[in-house]
Amino acid sequence: MEITRFVFSLLFLVMMTVGSSGSPNHWRRKRVREPCKKLVFYFHDIIYNGHNSKNATSAIVGTPAWGNRTILAGQNHFGDVVVFDDPITLDNNLHSAPVGRAQGFYIYDKKEIFTAWLGFSFVFNSTQHKGSINFAGADPLMNKTRDISVIGGTGDFFMTRGVATLSTDAFEGEVYFRLRADINLFECW
Ligand SMILES: *[C@@H]1O[C@H](CO)[C@@H](O)[C@H](O)[C@H]1NC(C)=O
Ligand SMILES: *[C@@H]1O[C@H](CO)[C@@H](O)[C@H](O)[C@H]1NC(C)=O
Ligand SMILES: *[C@@H]1O[C@H](CO)[C@@H](O)[C@H](O)[C@H]1NC(C)=O
Ligand SMILES: *[C@@H]1O[C@H](CO)[C@@H](O)[C@H](O)[C@H]1NC(C)=O
Repeated sequence: MEITRFVFSLLFLVMMTVGSSGSPNHWRRKRVREPCKKLVFYFHDIIYNGHNSKNATSAIVGTPAWGNRTILAGQNHFGDVVVFDDPITLDNNLHSAPVGRAQGFYIYDKKEIFTAWLGFSFVFNSTQHKGSINFAGADPLMNKTRDISVIGGTGDFFMTRGVATLSTDAFEGEVYFRLRADINLFECW
C-alpha cells in the first residue's frame, strides 16, 4: 500500500513538471534584448520618368495591363514592380561619397492604399564596411516609420539578423525619394 502511494505521488510530480514546462507561459516568455550593433544610412532613389535615363537609379520593370513602364500606374501604383540600384550615404546628401549600393526591388501591392513590399540588399565596398545586409518586408509608405526585417548578411555582417526602421526623409514628386534606415542588429558574429 505504501509503495503504491509512493509511486502515485512520484507520477503526480513527474506530470506536474512536464505540464508546467509545456504550458503556454513557456512560449509567451518575452526577451528584451539590446541591439549588438546600431547603424544609420540613407539611400537615394531617382525614378526613371521618361527623360532622366542617365540620372535614374531605378526603373519600372513590370506594370499591370492598364499602366506603362514610364509612369507609375494609377490606383496607388498597384502591380508596379520597380528595380533599383541606389547609392547609400552616411548623411542625407545625395552628393556625399557613397559607402555602398542598395540593390533590389519594390512591389506596390495594394490598390486601396499606398503600400509596397521591399526585398533588397545593402552591398558595401568601403573602408568602413565590407559585405552585405539583406532586408525584406512590408513597407506601408504612409506610416512615418516602418519596420522591416534584417534577414541575414555576409562579410562584416555574417549571419546577422535584426530590424530596420525606415522613414521617408524627403521626396520630390514621383522622381526622387530618400529613405533613412535605422538598423538595429540583434545577432552579430
Ligand atoms: C504612360 O501612361 C501615362 C499615364 O497614363 C501617359 O500619360 C503616358 O503617355 C504613357 N506613356 C507611354 C510611353 O505610353
Ligand atoms: C571594391 O573596391 C575595390 C577597391 O576600390 C575594387 O577593386 C573592387 O572591384 C570592388 N568590388 C566590388 C564588388 O565592387
Ligand atoms: C502603420 O500605421 C497604422 C496606423 O497608424 C498602424 O495601425 C500600423 O500598425 C502601422 N504599420 C506598421 C507596419 O508600422
Ligand atoms: C538627378 O536627379 C536628382 C533628383 O531628382 C536631382 O536632384 C539632380 O539634380 C539630378 N541630376 C542631374 C544631373 O540631372
